[in-house]
Amino acid sequence: MPTTPALLVRDLSFAHPGGPAVTIDEWSVPAGGEVLLQGPSGSGKSTILQLLAGLLDAKSGRVEIDGEDLLAVRGAERDRRRGRRIGMIFQTFNLLSGFSARENAMLAMHFAGVPAAAHRERAADLLGSLGLSGNELDRPVDRLSVGQQQRVAVARALAAEPAIVLADEPTASLDPDNAARTVDLVREACRTRGAALLLTSHDPSLAERFENRIDVSTFVSLPSGAGS
Ligand SMILES: Nc1ncnc2c1ncn2[C@@H]1O[C@H](COP(=O)(O)OP(=O)(O)OP(=O)(O)O)[C@@H](O)[C@H]1O
Ligand SMILES: [Mg+2]
Repeated sequence: MPTTPALLVRDLSFAHPGGPAVTIDEWSVPAGGEVLLQGPSGSGKSTILQLLAGLLDAKSGRVEIDGEDLLAVRGAERDRRRGRRIGMIFQTFNLLSGFSARENAMLAMHFAGVPAAAHRERAADLLGSLGLSGNELDRPVDRLSVGQQQRVAVARALAAEPAIVLADEPTASLDPDNAARTVDLVREACRTRGAALLLTSHDPSLAERFENRIDVSTFVSLPSGAGS
């Protein structure tokens, strides 16, 4: 029996004013699948991830996450659907500073509608599986090391057991060894929990680590007059 894909995109179109146009006729990522979205700086990687997350408003089209159309609703209802089904990892983490690792993970659960009684223990389990424990859980994230903050960002993305994790250049500011290690960490965390992973990178050396790769240029065309 065919399973519902983690991500299914149809007839999606968008353009930044005066910027490149994004057109995705059809694209899917299977449940539990892994895809690398590649392209140089400025090619449209973040734009595409923001469209898929419904953070940018597409002109038209559908984005189904685990069978549910994210773009059919707006505002708070879209935020809720995103929170329940999509885990986001940003290049600069975007953790809530002043809040602890545990609180960052628990807030993601809260916004996804996970029953409050489960938050504390689930956050500790998840952070523990990513190598944070003891008083690290309750220290404000700004007093954790960069590597630890990255682990909190991964934990937060997985806190609501999403169907898919969208990771926007999680390795951009790292040296090659740490970039590879971080990618392994994110992949392993997603695999263990059955989440699909769509990861963007401008780093060609990551390509060989992914069986399924797609180039941003498949979906993006430059405005007329731009480029060479
Ligand atoms: N709000 C905006 N208005 C107009 N153009 C924009 C806007 N945001 C981005 N762009 C343009 O869209 C293109 C794609 O930007 P995007 O941020 O998606 O690229 P990227 O591949 O994520 O780059 P990087 O690797 O540097 O993060 C760029 O040419 C950028 O200048
Ligand atoms: Mg970007």
